[in-house]
Amino acid sequence: MKLSTYEPDALPPGARSLSYGVFCWLNRHVTVLRALGALLRRWPAIGGRFGLVARASAVKDVLMRTRSFSNTAHAANMVSGDYLIGMDPGPTYSADRDLVHARLAALDVPADSDVEAQRRIKALRGRGAAGFDLIDEYLMWVVFRAMRPLFGAATGAVVAGSVTDASKGDVDEDLQRQYMLEIRYVAGQLLAGSLATLDLRRRAEACGDALQARIDRVTGTIGAAWGVKSSSADIERNAVGLAWISHPVTVQSGALVVQELLGRQKVYDELWSLADKLGEPAVWADPEFRKIVRNHVLELMRFRPIFPLLARDVPRDTEMTTGARQNAGCPGGGKVSLLSIAALFDSRVVPQSGRYCPDRDWGNEDALRYLMFGYGYRQCPARDYAVEILTSALIGLLTLPRLQLARGEGKAIAYDGPLMLCMRMRTT
Ligand code: HEM
Repeated sequence: MKLSTYEPDALPPGARSLSYGVFCWLNRHVTVLRALGALLRRWPAIGGRFGLVARASAVKDVLMRTRSFSNTAHAANMVSGDYLIGMDPGPTYSADRDLVHARLAALDVPADSDVEAQRRIKALRGRGAAGFDLIDEYLMWVVFRAMRPLFGAATGAVVAGSVTDASKGDVDEDLQRQYMLEIRYVAGQLLAGSLATLDLRRRAEACGDALQARIDRVTGTIGAAWGVKSSSADIERNAVGLAWISHPVTVQSGALVVQELLGRQKVYDELWSLADKLGEPAVWADPEFRKIVRNHVLELMRFRPIFPLLARDVPRDTEMTTGARQNAGCPGGGKVSLLSIAALFDSRVVPQSGRYCPDRDWGNEDALRYLMFGYGYRQCPARDYAVEILTSALIGLLTLPRLQLARGEGKAIAYDGPLMLCMRMRTT
């Protein structure tokens, strides 16, 4: 069996637009993706022929074999240069990984995410019944505030792209918004993958160049804030990478969580009533309530993971188990795809996998519960921080009067490929 070595630029424009359209449609209609996953779990040999695995055991197995299945599959979609997520293990990978752990240790979540969620909710409440955009007026800012310590004292300089006096303190919100849009499209290319149309890729590359340029001007300030003496190339690679990998993915995940929750009216009503009964400030202080909301965040992410599919390069000829009687051959130079969304619903390991059940006992499969963040050694280092931030964001929303998508005045959710650009909400 020969896996194709994918050549994106060899695709004729019509075929590229069509396949990208199908890809985006599937991303928005995850139930179809789940149904496809169920078929491939049932007949794993079929997926194996196309380099696809769906069973939880097979997905975990591939993700654990980091030398046979390489993260370099991401590299082609990293428009602002190389970074940890697309690297093979080695000295640069290890040093960058240490740095990301050190930067994450500086975060102060949930304190920061709680404070910003409360501040933004207060402002939204002050506007009365008027609608608001969940992404633009809430999530973006809650995540931004929580991520500030990644750049610490250099945040203003990074956002402004300069080291003028003005950038030493807080820079203007419009400038912050511009920065967040730029990093959104850079991260968006990682989600859109090599199927993205050339126009979209060009936009992502333009934003990637702009991000590199702004970081390039302030590497000294970033190095000082980080307390490192690395070369400016090392600082630039890490700063650029941290900028795009941290914020947009968390914001998008938050929007997906809310979208899924609002589609489950009964669950939303129950959570809302719990929050209402506790009232403020107890909703923010009650550890039991926080734990409940956190469990919901994880379960909502299971139903709508931002990366329903992960890819890996195959550097050398190998085989992978799929769950079929025979292993699937994986020729060197090809790629494999892991349907993580299918693994998250594999009833062989997840009890009552199709049910929405935030307090499910995962037993010895607890690690699989976090598959939305990858698995094993290459799992997202920010996993627990991100879950805390989304928990803060959701608690804040539960303190508002009942919410629903603002349908009626055009579409409530505007998409740009697989990305949600805005999600208009209103209170009822
Ligand atoms: C809800 C938010 C997030 C989700 C769903 C998420 C998801 C993921 C996933 C699935 C991977 C593994 C990709 C793979 O194995 O191919 C990953 C890796 C990574 N994530 Fe996140 N992520 C989130 C937030 C963040 C944040 C806030 C940071 C901030 C620093 C971050 C930094 C990274 C890094 C550096 C890697 C690469 C790790 C490695 O390859 O060793 N992520 N993330």
